[in-house]
Amino acid sequence: MIDLSTEYLGLKLDNPLVPSSSPLTAELDSAKKLEDAGAAALVLPSLFEEVIEQEQKQLERFVHSQSLGHYEAQSYHPVPEDYNSELDSHLERIAQFKSALDIPVIASLNGISSDGWIDSGRELQQAGADALELNVYYIAADPDISCQDVEQRYLQLLHDLRQHISIPVTMKLSSQFSSLANMVLRLQQAGAQGVSLFNRFYQPDIDLETLQIKPHLDLSTSMESLLRIRWIALIRGCVDLSIAATGGFHLPSDIIKALLAGADITHLCSVLLNNGPEHIAVLKQQILYWLEEHEYESVAQMKGSVSRSCAIDPAALEHCNYMNSIKSYRK
Ligand SMILES: Cc1cc2nc3c(=O)[nH]c(=O)nc-3n(C[C@H](O)[C@H](O)[C@H](O)COP(=O)(O)O)c2cc1C
Repeated sequence: MIDLSTEYLGLKLDNPLVPSSSPLTAELDSAKKLEDAGAAALVLPSLFEEVIEQEQKQLERFVHSQSLGHYEAQSYHPVPEDYNSELDSHLERIAQFKSALDIPVIASLNGISSDGWIDSGRELQQAGADALELNVYYIAADPDISCQDVEQRYLQLLHDLRQHISIPVTMKLSSQFSSLANMVLRLQQAGAQGVSLFNRFYQPDIDLETLQIKPHLDLSTSMESLLRIRWIALIRGCVDLSIAATGGFHLPSDIIKALLAGADITHLCSVLLNNGPEHIAVLKQQILYWLEEHEYESVAQMKGSVSRSCAIDPAALEHCNYMNSIKSYRK
């Protein structure tokens, strides 16, 4: 019997297939289908800083107008009796998922500033989240902000969150750091138990008729997984934290490569939106076939065997790769 189990953020998982934040992890019905198909854990959709702050301001305005006792002001910013904030909905979802599912439930926070919103991590923990993913989706477009400032922002946010919670924290990162391996190491030193590599960058488009900038989201393709696989292979041996591969994991072979590179789990999103939650069972079966065919007894046995520290030709993962890639082109 091949053992697919793995460990991620200190959680013992049945296998390395973990749906990441998406509409599929928002509803109990689809979450149940994911679990039934073999998902080993799941990450809930993010609670966003903008939303928390907007709701806090709305509440402050309401309380202020009430204390003035001004009828018009009260009716201008009404807070209905059954008002349910976004945070409330997230807390209810965690409690609901925790009582209905057996797999670990990872909450997600998404923001960029070290303000009060980060306190909500405590409530997510109290609601029962097994771990927390912090997605810092920061676009460094201000020329006065140095790369040290940007990195400090990540470290500070992690530090602030750690003040509020004791469950494991993983950082969902972009690939765009000057020294990614160093950044991951510093996040580990600052208390992160894991990293999730990498966020996809959604590129806004330009409407040629209205000249408006408009949001744009295409689902990923398998090709995107190679960037993740390479970086995981490069940093696996340099750090001692959990690593999740995210972005472009569609085929069983993509997932197997990520595990060989040193990922502890692979996140799945686009592939499940395309094929439905049941597709997890297909991926799991295909991975089992591969392991059997290649005479592995467990995921643990193959994990990291093509990371830089174990690879037959580590330099192939680094700079020479550029020259070789160009030379490998055939018409
Ligand atoms: C419709 C949709 C909603 C998403 N919502 C979130 C979210 O709330 N928080 C988050 O961190 N990532 C979110 N993501 C990103 C995914 O979790 C995932 O990181 C990304 O799609 C890359 O993985 P994939 O190539 O498997 O799709 C979302 C993606 C999609 C397509």
